[in-house]
Amino acid sequence: MEPLSTALPGGTWTFVDSPVTRFGYGAMQLAGPWAMGPPADRDAASAVLREAVDAGITHIDTSDAYGPRFTNELIREALHPYPDSLVIATKVGANRDAQGGWPTARRPEDLRNQVRGNLRSLGVEVLDLVNLRMGDANGLRPGSLAEAFGTLVELQQEGLIRHLGVSNVSPEQVDEAQGIAPIVCVQNMYNLAHRYDDNLIDRLAAHGIAYVPFFPLGGFTPLQSETLSGVAERLGSTPKSVALAWLLQRSPNILLIPGTSARAHLHENIDGAALALPEDAVAELDRFGR
Ligand SMILES: NC(=O)c1ccc[n+]([C@@H]2O[C@H](COP(=O)([O-])OP(=O)(O)OC[C@H]3O[C@@H](n4cnc5c(N)ncnc54)[C@H](OP(=O)(O)O)[C@@H]3O)[C@@H](O)[C@H]2O)c1
Repeated sequence: MEPLSTALPGGTWTFVDSPVTRFGYGAMQLAGPWAMGPPADRDAASAVLREAVDAGITHIDTSDAYGPRFTNELIREALHPYPDSLVIATKVGANRDAQGGWPTARRPEDLRNQVRGNLRSLGVEVLDLVNLRMGDANGLRPGSLAEAFGTLVELQQEGLIRHLGVSNVSPEQVDEAQGIAPIVCVQNMYNLAHRYDDNLIDRLAAHGIAYVPFFPLGGFTPLQSETLSGVAERLGSTPKSVALAWLLQRSPNILLIPGTSARAHLHENIDGAALALPEDAVAELDRFGR
């Protein structure tokens, strides 16, 4: 495969044989409030996806549980046939209920159904990357992932999945997955204010495994702090830009998937993430986050 060249901030990362831009796009909130669809303005949502790809983004994060299904269907409508360079990462391990909840669904037959559902809604024969999402809507939960992850390994051996990852997991669960089969990424909640995974990120970097923080901007609760606002003001930037630039500078294995339903925000985030943070700003942000 041709090496990927990009003008996007952060350059590129490679999932074994699949290069991606470190600046990616998270599609969860495209479906509508609380990731429940249908989107109020379908054309506007499609336009954001096309704009992301036109800007050079080659990593989109999604799930059939977003919408549910609406987000994957939007991706298919807006982008199929997909450019060869595009890597669509999806995740399995939960369904949606009528109230918008995320009931866990990780029995072998649940996971097989979810993988088949993602193949159908995205309109592909092989999923580029599937994350097994552990825990529940309230966060991490201890316990073995062996049976569920083993099912995804079987689906990979059946040719339905190219790469595997894990999400919403403890360091012990990452170790357990790595003992079963290679993973290319860990997708956990992490941002300037939530630094629980600092050691894990460094350990994964040493093993060439990507770390993909979800809620890089705080998700449903936007990041807010006087320190962050102060640093942003001093640098003539915005808190969101500083938060994204900090993640890119934090470690080369961090891949960004900020979400937005607005084209203008997409461009603000791309421009903002290119900010070069001086050492004193990084030190100040470090003190706030730890
Ligand atoms: N593995 C998991 O368990 C898990 C859990 C949650 C999320 N995820 C993934 O992580 C991705 C990122 O998370 P997220 O989208 O929930 O949270 P996020 O990226 O931290 O923040 C997205 C929110 O920030 C707003 N925003 C973005 N850019 C902005 C800007 N320049 N100015 C003002 N507001 C801006 C968006 O609103 P607008 O739409 O108005 O721009 C949206 O409400 C998701 O899309 C999903 O793919 C994974």
